[in-house]
Amino acid sequence: MTRPLDLSRFARAALGTWPTPLEDCRRLSEALGGPRILVKRDDVNGLGVGGNKLRKLEFLLGAALAGGVDTVITFGGLQTNHGRQTAAACARLGLRCELVLTRAVPRTGEAYERSGNVALDLLYGAAVHICDDDASTEATYRRIVDEAAAAGRRTVTFPVGGSDGLGVLGYLAAAVELRDQLAGLAVDRIFCAAGSCGTVAGLALGVALLDWPVVVEAVAVSPPAADKPAQIRRLVDESAALLEVPRPALDHVRVTGRAVGPGYGVPTAETWAAIRLFARTEGITLDPVYTGKAGAALVDAVRGGETGAAETVVFLHTGGLPGLFGYGPELFDAVAP
Ligand SMILES: Cc1ncc(COP(=O)(O)O)c(C=O)c1O
Repeated sequence: MTRPLDLSRFARAALGTWPTPLEDCRRLSEALGGPRILVKRDDVNGLGVGGNKLRKLEFLLGAALAGGVDTVITFGGLQTNHGRQTAAACARLGLRCELVLTRAVPRTGEAYERSGNVALDLLYGAAVHICDDDASTEATYRRIVDEAAAAGRRTVTFPVGGSDGLGVLGYLAAAVELRDQLAGLAVDRIFCAAGSCGTVAGLALGVALLDWPVVVEAVAVSPPAADKPAQIRRLVDESAALLEVPRPALDHVRVTGRAVGPGYGVPTAETWAAIRLFARTEGITLDPVYTGKAGAALVDAVRGGETGAAETVVFLHTGGLPGLFGYGPELFDAVAP
């Protein structure tokens, strides 16, 4: 392994089960009339119902523990998967977890507010603070920091989605893991949901450092999709600086807004159709906020001929299962005969 890909100098908390499975999904491929589709199962990586944040949290929490931190603060929407995985990781590591959640999605009701991720946050023992807007989120955050300082606790704050230069290293490691698993099999594209963009940035950096000829298809799950390239660029640069490597060209990254729909956390008919398709061909569960949109983009790219029938693609399953239950009534309507 070359030096930029040697991450052993970074502290890392052991959280997930690696490598995650890579599954050849023949029935899904057949249903779409080709291409060959391999699903990388980062939804089943072990801790706290699984998902993509565990890879980032291994680095973020590794550094936090090395710095003597006892309290982790982070942010998200009410049904944040990142918050739930941070809560589970903190439980495993014996850290206090403060989740500052903002009502950022036009959804209310019993399922959205009391089930799915938000219920699991409480189950894993996190302190959950629900805020109506950005101003109260900021004020709540300040209060938590001040109270912790007054109590002599050492805090660390992770950004939304765990997406900073350090967290991104988790998906650099994932790119290396995936390349090894493919054992020489050529892949044309990797499809991945892009929210705060840390996952895609890590993949993109890994692909560049591996000199791997594959396109990273970043599927925007929140508008505006046009902002994503700059977000990805910034995160790649932050990680490259940590690794002390030159900032790579990102010509192999394509951002698509084809599945973004009307807003973050608002699934479309195509999102639900993709969720049904993956479930009914492969028994794989997508979610309505992230992977359902990434799945819809894959379906649309294949049906539109942009992804050819002779190609081989990897679909990175980034998790999100609990969020499905947060959409309880909509889910039932989308799957009932
Ligand atoms: C299930 C799931 N998939 C994808 C993403 C997007 O990852 P990122 O924020 O790194 O773009 C998230 C982010 O919260 C997520 O929870």
